[in-house]
Amino acid sequence: MCGIVGILGTQPVADDLVDALKRLEYRGYDSAGISTVENGVLGRLRAKGKLKNLQKRLNEAPLQGHAGIGHTRWATHGAPNESNAHPHMTDKVAVVHNGIIENFKALRDKLESEGAHFESDTDTEVIVHLISEELASGRAPEQAVHGVLAQLEGAFAIAVIFGGHDDLMIGARRGSPLAIGYGEDQMYLGSDAIALAPFTDRVSYMEDGDWVILTRSSATILDEGGQEVERKITKSFASAMLVDKGNHRHFMAKEIHQQPEVIAHTLGYYVDLTKNIVKIPDFDIDFKTLPRITISACGTAYYAGLVAKYWFERYARLPVEIDVASEMRYREAPMEPGGLALFISQSGETADTLATLRYCREQKQHVAAVVNVKESTIARESDAVLPTLAGPEIGVASTKAFTCQLTVLACLAIKAGRERGHISKDEEVELVTQLVELPRHISSVLKNEHLFEKIAHGLAHKRDVLYLGRGSSYPIALEGALKLKEISYIHAEGYAAGELKHGPIALIDEDVPVVVVAPKDDLFEKTVSNMQEVAARGGQIILLTDDQEAAENFNAASSFVVPKAHSFTNPLLFAVPVQLLAYHTAVFMGTDVDQPRNLAKSVTVE
Ligand code: AGP
Repeated sequence: MCGIVGILGTQPVADDLVDALKRLEYRGYDSAGISTVENGVLGRLRAKGKLKNLQKRLNEAPLQGHAGIGHTRWATHGAPNESNAHPHMTDKVAVVHNGIIENFKALRDKLESEGAHFESDTDTEVIVHLISEELASGRAPEQAVHGVLAQLEGAFAIAVIFGGHDDLMIGARRGSPLAIGYGEDQMYLGSDAIALAPFTDRVSYMEDGDWVILTRSSATILDEGGQEVERKITKSFASAMLVDKGNHRHFMAKEIHQQPEVIAHTLGYYVDLTKNIVKIPDFDIDFKTLPRITISACGTAYYAGLVAKYWFERYARLPVEIDVASEMRYREAPMEPGGLALFISQSGETADTLATLRYCREQKQHVAAVVNVKESTIARESDAVLPTLAGPEIGVASTKAFTCQLTVLACLAIKAGRERGHISKDEEVELVTQLVELPRHISSVLKNEHLFEKIAHGLAHKRDVLYLGRGSSYPIALEGALKLKEISYIHAEGYAAGELKHGPIALIDEDVPVVVVAPKDDLFEKTVSNMQEVAARGGQIILLTDDQEAAENFNAASSFVVPKAHSFTNPLLFAVPVQLLAYHTAVFMGTDVDQPRNLAKSVTVE
């Protein structure tokens, strides 16, 4: 997936395009490029790698057009090099594209057989040649784009400018998000409202199948059939300020350290702090009669859902089905009408999660979403939105969004338990009090951050690392392994501790560190047995626990002790040491912590 932007301005737009692309870099950062039209002539600059490379080129040879499009790429078709970077163009048309054209091979074969010469390996370039062909046959740009859209299969958003037309831009949306920004005699297109925030707060969101013809003074939105349609202009609350790292070396470090504050914020929204009871605004699901919850999400958000499964089942006796969205969307799972389908997403744009949401809606489920970006597509398509108040998360590795998701889900599980009669009023107060204590406990973990620098030395340069946990610590083991592999590129796997003996134990030797997430809860002794099995085979244990005595008595290579809390809140608390462990290992190894290779913050393709 990629970020796209378009501006019809009254001054040269190159700098504003780059500014908008900086805000979209979370969507991809393999390469970037812009194209402008100046006195009817299309110009283009592209560069491999981060935006700063494009900026350098622009400084050397500025583009002066007052109309332009820009792109930041996460490669799908074709290597991340300059010739595959967008915009793709001929002398007649320039196109930026987010998404995948599924029938590009057939289209490309046909175009090549007719004499088209392709310069890239991308699927996008077929759009350029198709539009150019239509224009060459005498069609107007609007007719040409409409004709081409009908030939494309897949999910995409595009922005197009034309040679010979300084006051025209066309955008189209099918599957991938696209917003229109309305300025004073200026018009904008962007993958999201955040990209457009410095220019305008008047935004409308295109719907699937919509395409738009923009001039500086008009926006004509049409549906797939070419009929004009109305889309509401709303006020966007996206901030125009670019988030900075503060005193931290990386955004990830800043975001890890923000957790006490943002969890407290989130609790302030979901908890009546005068009584320590849960209050969930705008959420009227009747948990008492609810047959089941179906949870779906991707990556870290999925692990938050997995923790919630333990909570809903244990504290509310409510059956939960959970699956990663990339599987669930195609499983054709039968669903009893009237269930609750719960989606978890930081960005609110993840394509697999969105597709699963739409499937569940067809299956007549109530749709609720825990999202960090309130204006996102997932939020807009949900019946109930449960916002996390984490603030913008810039580091590709999710940290504060994860613990805020857990905070919301913990509150929801308490509400469900209370309504279903499995949590008494006093127990509710006790559990909420434990949640309210969390920011303090997390701060105390963060005060001992320096201890992780040493532990991280033991992990750095290892080939494989295993993470083990039982019960609600199991998803934290999975999350720890994901964090480590994303940012340090060390192969890591999380396992339910009891599964070790069913296969993974074969991997254990003195070169495989095993991180064990082991709070002293009712499953602790079981986990200790698994640690013994590892130790007996020479494995190096890194023990994360809340029991000083266990840490001293167990012969671990290293250990870290978090403050003693309630077993209910332990997944939140133990999330922080696994983040710190991954972070310091990556720093020690010198990787690009905030923008690790091959990844993007928001995955809007399948
Ligand atoms: C987490 O560190 C990841 N980068 C990734 O797994 C992420 O959680 C996943 O892509 C889901 O994203 P979302 O929360 O924006 O839907």
